[in-house]
Amino acid sequence: MANVIFKDVHKRFGSFVALEKLDLDIHDGEFVALLGPSGCGKSTTLRMLAGLEFPTSGEIRIGDRVINDLAPGKRDIAMVFQSYALYPHMTVGENIAYPLKKRGIKGKARAEAVQKAAELLQLEALLDRKPKQLSGGQQQRVALGRALVRDPQVFLLDEPLSNLDAKLRSYMRAELIELHARLGKTMVYVTHDQLEAMTMANRIAVMHGGRVQQFDTPDAIYNRPANRFVAGFIGTPPMNQIDGTAEGDHIVISGHRIPFNRADFVDSLADGPVVLGVRPEFVAIGSGDGLPATVRLAENTGHETIVTLELPDQTRISARVEAARKLDVGQKVALRFDPAAIHLFEASENGTRLNLDETPAAVIPMRAK
Ligand SMILES: Nc1ncnc2c1ncn2[C@@H]1O[C@H](COP(=O)(O)OP(=O)(O)OP(=O)(O)O)[C@@H](O)[C@H]1O
Ligand SMILES: [Mg+2]
Repeated sequence: MANVIFKDVHKRFGSFVALEKLDLDIHDGEFVALLGPSGCGKSTTLRMLAGLEFPTSGEIRIGDRVINDLAPGKRDIAMVFQSYALYPHMTVGENIAYPLKKRGIKGKARAEAVQKAAELLQLEALLDRKPKQLSGGQQQRVALGRALVRDPQVFLLDEPLSNLDAKLRSYMRAELIELHARLGKTMVYVTHDQLEAMTMANRIAVMHGGRVQQFDTPDAIYNRPANRFVAGFIGTPPMNQIDGTAEGDHIVISGHRIPFNRADFVDSLADGPVVLGVRPEFVAIGSGDGLPATVRLAENTGHETIVTLELPDQTRISARVEAARKLDVGQKVALRFDPAAIHLFEASENGTRLNLDETPAAVIPMRAK
């Protein structure tokens, strides 16, 4: 068993609080992504798991062992960093073999482990090359190979793809998904790229300001965000958030009344200020009845158009429409939101979502688990 547990972990650097009340229960064999903006504490979390940093308080477990004070070499983990840090004077084969050599594993056992890792990562033809004779993606695979040969219980990956170009990243994403499926090992993967987290992970811990904001499946993170931060971090463009006022069965925005179904929301939702959230794919652009808006920008990406719209109070929101749709800058339109796709949040800075937790109409297909 190699589940990973963070229990009430706090981490301070001097007086600076890097992580607050970190609670994560990562299952054996699970692929978990730690996702969040720069400085939110992702690497610190991973480094504590690796033994490169120590918690100020709380408990970290791998399997049934508390590892708080255990030396990195005794934790049965392997870490892959953003920079591949391959030894330039060694061949691919020697680079992959290095962790075993360091542990005194010799001869046939070492050769076989290297061969197995090379096969898994399709590096067999490259074993005699030096790192500088490899592409970025191949170098990253060698770095993975070096982690693989150790056959650890848990893999830790800190932004391993961020040095690669877009095409190579998407290729390596697919490779990592396959690798995880084949190995069945627990993987903790740090990224600030939501696409990586959404496509690769079984569950995502969205972090912000040293706190986990939500730890859930990609589907739940997208369709049932816990708060305004998560709603505003996930999605390209992210969920629109519009200040309004709840009045009975309507949300009033700039004097316009938008109907909503109160039974879909928590009882504590009271009349008064509220933030309405709606994903760009559920903003319908029409004429006549609806929330008045002006088209400010229409960006055709080839298969769809992202429209920027300005509301009467000058708030800007986005809509996702089919590429063929013709809209002119300056055009006056009327917006309608599917009531089943409406989210409401407390009006505070990182307000909690107030929907009852039934899946709204807004469901995107996810990778089969
Ligand atoms: N050794 C340290 N001493 C002081 N502060 C630190 C130290 N290591 C990290 N921090 C601070 O802790 C916070 C979290 O850092 P961390 O490296 O975990 O962020 P991150 O989420 O990995 O960000 P990025 O996406 O930029 O890599 C940051 O504000 C950082 O400046
Ligand atoms: Mg980092």
